[in-house]
Amino acid sequence: MCGIIGIVGQTPVAPRLIESLKRLEYRGYDSAGIAAFENGRVVRRRAEGKLRNLEAVLQSEPVQATVGVGHTRWATHGRPSERNAHPHQAGRVTVVHNGIIENFAELKAELAGQGRSFESETDTEVVAHLIDSELKAGKPPVEAFKAALDRLRGAYALAVIIEGETQLVLGARHGPPLVVGWGQGEMFLGSDALAVGPFTNRVSYLHDGDYVALDAQGARVFDGTGAEVSRPPKQVSSSAAVMEKGNYRHFMEKEIHDQPEAVQHTLAAYLDPVRMRAEAPDGFDFSTIDRIQIVACGTAYYAGVIAKYLFERYAGLPTDVEVASEFRYRSPALSPRTLAIAISQSGETADTLAALRHARAEGQKIAVVVNVPTSSMAREADRLWPTHAGPEIGVASTKAFTAQVSALTALVIAAAGKRKKVDGNEQARMVRLLLEAPRLIAEASEAEDEVRAIAYDLSKARDVLYLGRGAMSALAMEGALKLKEISYIHAEGYAAGELKHGPIALIDEQTPVIALAPYDELFEKTQSNLQEVGARGGPVIAVTDRRGAPHLSSTARLIIAPEADPLIAPLVFAPAIQLLAYYTAVHKGTDVDQPRNLAKSVTVE
Ligand code: G6P
Repeated sequence: MCGIIGIVGQTPVAPRLIESLKRLEYRGYDSAGIAAFENGRVVRRRAEGKLRNLEAVLQSEPVQATVGVGHTRWATHGRPSERNAHPHQAGRVTVVHNGIIENFAELKAELAGQGRSFESETDTEVVAHLIDSELKAGKPPVEAFKAALDRLRGAYALAVIIEGETQLVLGARHGPPLVVGWGQGEMFLGSDALAVGPFTNRVSYLHDGDYVALDAQGARVFDGTGAEVSRPPKQVSSSAAVMEKGNYRHFMEKEIHDQPEAVQHTLAAYLDPVRMRAEAPDGFDFSTIDRIQIVACGTAYYAGVIAKYLFERYAGLPTDVEVASEFRYRSPALSPRTLAIAISQSGETADTLAALRHARAEGQKIAVVVNVPTSSMAREADRLWPTHAGPEIGVASTKAFTAQVSALTALVIAAAGKRKKVDGNEQARMVRLLLEAPRLIAEASEAEDEVRAIAYDLSKARDVLYLGRGAMSALAMEGALKLKEISYIHAEGYAAGELKHGPIALIDEQTPVIALAPYDELFEKTQSNLQEVGARGGPVIAVTDRRGAPHLSSTARLIIAPEADPLIAPLVFAPAIQLLAYYTAVHKGTDVDQPRNLAKSVTVE
């Protein structure tokens, strides 16, 4: 998703804008630009593609300024090009924007009717024109800005500069987050705390509907009604250190190897290793509910599907899981004794946030399993159940996923205990198993040599099928998603038993099948499915454990994962599918950390 930075500073602004935009690269983008005041005039530099292209433009046409705005664009309206890159300008006004202005076509027609002409295909340009026309009508800057905001429908975060107001940056938040960074005689506006991280760790989070006027001395914040409000700054942890890749080639590789720690930190919030008990951080009593409704998107959705298997199996708690973009637009039958759980790494995904609000409007109590504790979802939920994966930079989620699955598994144990499905001894056994997960995940991440060799062959495939049974079918779908996201190879995840009902028609010598087959009570069934694949010439790769290996060595190439109880098997088998996708993408030479067309945090519908 688009990234925003605004700076009212004392030192050259162009390198600072670029530095901040680099921190925002992880969100995914396809063009970038900056605008700043040079001798009182606004100058603009933009480039399609990566930031190095913008840096090259700045090298040949430098900008001498201390106040300006910058943007990384992830195309929604209009293809990625220099012309569509932000900032956009009209008259005295220059705008950068994240989100979508839903009524832009209507506004554009109206503004065109007044004789205004447009340079780009974007929805953003209408915002610049609207503000400019309010200025022309004689309104002072902040009032003109507010009048324009009142005309906008949709989701947006904005940063605006106005010719003639060289010490002013305006911002507004309606949906996607926006933060104000407080420096010493300098002020910053950013799409998240990472954007302002190079300059300050004192940050105010704007509320939905807020707008703000920054100058070098401070910020005046107004709520949606126009009343001036206080949004006091908070100290946030320094982001600079955790953003380094260390010795790894990609953030994704680092994050795969960060998983034992991410899971351990997360479990520390849920497990009591002395009493051998599991509990939600806020002590939630699962015996007060009859049903769980999970909503999430992408990888977080698959964490939810795994949780469904576990909640039903161990806690006897009926659990539904739905992708948030569907849930929000239908009329789900919800009962008062249902707990809605949203799962999200970022806590900002527009569909998940809207689903959460939808459930709230229907009178549901909401819990969120979320990695960013200051995010919109964290702030809006009744219960915050954190994951402690640390910032995840690779667009393809890895450590946030295992942190989600580990938090949810701990909640399953808590629910099983509170609902009297297990006695104290059994609960202690389950806690012991879960406490072993970080070590087993570390062991699983060591199978790299086999994985690399298999990935080389996978990188030649056009289609790949992933199979699994039980919770492993959800991990199969997550495996397929990982491969699609970063290697651009078409992949599908299936419940192994469904193979014969359709997908088996796809099998030929060119279509590898990857089976997730721990030696559990369903192992033999999966083994039969793999024989059906082998009989049709399909190359089979099995991720199994030491006990399963002898049974599969004649049918499949093997990746050996540590033996694990079914309670934690999804966690222990996750590194294998992540590394397979990672090395396949490396062999193909794709942009692993910022795959094409994808965004880390999708703040539009
Ligand atoms: C985007 C990302 C996915 C992520 C999904 C949900 O599509 O590319 O990797 O799983 O959003 O994100 P969330 O922050 O809500 O977990």
